[in-house]
Amino acid sequence: MSSPRTAVVTGASSGIGAATARTLAAQGFHVYCAARRTDRIEALASEIGGTAVVCDVTSKESVAALAETVGDRLDVLVNNAGGAFGAAPVAQGDADDWRRMYEVNVIGLMQVTRALLPALVASGAGVILNVGSTAGRTAYEGGAGYTAAKHGTKVVTETLRLELWDQPVRVCEIAPGMVRTDEFALVRFEGDQERAEAVYAGVAEPLTAEDVADAIGWMVTRPVHVNIDELVIRPRAQAAQHKVHRVHD
Ligand SMILES: NC(=O)c1ccc[n+]([C@@H]2O[C@H](COP(=O)([O-])OP(=O)(O)OC[C@H]3O[C@@H](n4cnc5c(N)ncnc54)[C@H](OP(=O)(O)O)[C@@H]3O)[C@@H](O)[C@H]2O)c1
Repeated sequence: MSSPRTAVVTGASSGIGAATARTLAAQGFHVYCAARRTDRIEALASEIGGTAVVCDVTSKESVAALAETVGDRLDVLVNNAGGAFGAAPVAQGDADDWRRMYEVNVIGLMQVTRALLPALVASGAGVILNVGSTAGRTAYEGGAGYTAAKHGTKVVTETLRLELWDQPVRVCEIAPGMVRTDEFALVRFEGDQERAEAVYAGVAEPLTAEDVADAIGWMVTRPVHVNIDELVIRPRAQAAQHKVHRVHD
């Protein structure tokens, strides 16, 4: 019997990453669930028959240990670890928040990609899927630290596709709009539940983590000659970044 296809999902401890790990496992992948919170990824890995790998994508040593665990061959890498910290206007910007956003959304993605690229090439048909954002397409007030970082995710993806043009590795980006996950807005507003709730106020159906995972599952399982360069996915209620249909009582 041939060994199962393998996938690494970073940021698998919650939200889109956890849903993606479940989707890929259901598609037959053995999934390496990587994130910093051990208890979460261990529970997920045991649920889906995968492998938990404690990993901070901003740490070179931690990423090297992830590559060591994965070994010589890897079919799919989903660079999902990321997030937004704060929403201050540029005039009140916090340099530490901005650095953290660049570290996780751009440098972390580069470090994981660099470490796992030989194994992806060795598979003969690797896929790198980066989780960007519509924030990597459009500016919005208070968003500059995050939008700058997610524009970085987009440009790194494009550059990598050019650089790997003669290699058996596809390079894709998914750019979700408003996704209601348990933690994204809470992390952004440092646990302020009221501000986090306000993001989704009156929106009947924001995207769910499962909606995005479903699209990722589709993107990484196209025939090997088909590269989905980028896929923008939003809820119907969000016609554009600023144009959100909200119904208030
Ligand atoms: N929710 C949205 O509206 C939305 C829209 C567009 C794009 N996105 C993007 O989608 C991705 C997932 O977001 P989400 O909504 O699912 O948010 P989330 O639930 O907050 O998930 C973020 C994940 O990233 C992990 N992570 C953060 N820093 C890390 C680090 N240094 N090393 C390893 N893992 C790290 C977290 O796990 P640990 O804390 O356990 O490490 C967590 O599993 C992010 O890249 C985000 O920017 C989200």
